[in-house]
Amino acid sequence: MSEFALEVENLVKVYASRGKAPIRAVDGMSFRVPRGIIFGLLGPNGAGKSSLLRMLSTLTRPTEGTAKILGYEVVKKPIEVRKRISSVIQATAVELFLSVKDNLLTYARFQGLNKAVAARRADALIEEFQLGSEVDRKVQDLSGGFRRRVQVAKVFMVDTPVLFLDEFSTGMDPILKRQVMNLLRAEVEKGRTIILTTQILSEAEELCDDILIINRGKQSARGELNALKQLSRGVYDITLAFDRLPDTIQAEIAELTPIRFTVEGNTIELTLKIEESRVMDVVSALSRNRHVLRVEVRGASLEDIFVELTTREGKELA
Ligand SMILES: Nc1ncnc2c1ncn2[C@@H]1O[C@H](COP(=O)(O)OP(=O)(O)OP(=O)(O)O)[C@@H](O)[C@H]1O
Ligand SMILES: [Mg+2]
Repeated sequence: MSEFALEVENLVKVYASRGKAPIRAVDGMSFRVPRGIIFGLLGPNGAGKSSLLRMLSTLTRPTEGTAKILGYEVVKKPIEVRKRISSVIQATAVELFLSVKDNLLTYARFQGLNKAVAARRADALIEEFQLGSEVDRKVQDLSGGFRRRVQVAKVFMVDTPVLFLDEFSTGMDPILKRQVMNLLRAEVEKGRTIILTTQILSEAEELCDDILIINRGKQSARGELNALKQLSRGVYDITLAFDRLPDTIQAEIAELTPIRFTVEGNTIELTLKIEESRVMDVVSALSRNRHVLRVEVRGASLEDIFVELTTREGKELA
């Protein structure tokens, strides 16, 4: 068996519709994911995360390129792939006309799980996902958050080696989200591989062993979060509060080509990528002959790198 859970080579997905310009949702991605880790695909809305996941889970065909799950090619061996994966996609099907419990049981039976084991697991998951009050209700009558719980609980019914989760935490309250994160960790300890998408940095930071930042269908950066954080060296958040906002401040800041810039009342906040030795020059230039009430300089956060990587096309981070 392949040592990789996932091998992606030059994968492309183009959506073409008559009379409209084609959309290259996934535009030539190549990467590998070893087994037994949580791998995060991180990117803003429309980056191509769901399109990528839909190809990997055999729901749509790649336009070009190949993807293998545990060595099995998604286009050539879809049945082999499907036996080894379970997925929660953004528009995941739940059987709307079945009750919560029957959704879990049907899914497990469909995946070939024995009846007694399925019943035991369903009971445990109903407890874990706090679905007890809803257990006999049809899924179509549930709130969005509860529906999501059913979708996510389902994939824990079975033991497929690879799990795909597209924004699993959408609509979950923080306590449940925490519990699900713990469950995911426990599954990985048992040897499963989890590929998830998110746009929530803190979630990726806490959960993922390795991440890939994608934007407009392309890879921007790959690595352990610690390594990615290194990218933020040389990026600074500067806050200045004036007694009165200087008239020319916008123009002065534009000259500095900040990554981010906001004005709120008399306070400006900007994120700059500059040499450390220049930070104080910038602060003093902006404060010269002005009454400054507060100055704050901080090293940038992961969020700043994310913004940097996803808003500036083609610009290399030093
Ligand atoms: N079935 C489709 N037909 C046409 N275009 C599509 C289709 N699905 C997605 N797209 C387009 O492909 C691009 C990538 O969409 P995708 O849903 O993969 O992004 P995403 O990263 O999952 O975004 P989000 O964070 O909003 O879920 C977008 O421009 C989107 O409009
Ligand atoms: Mg999506």
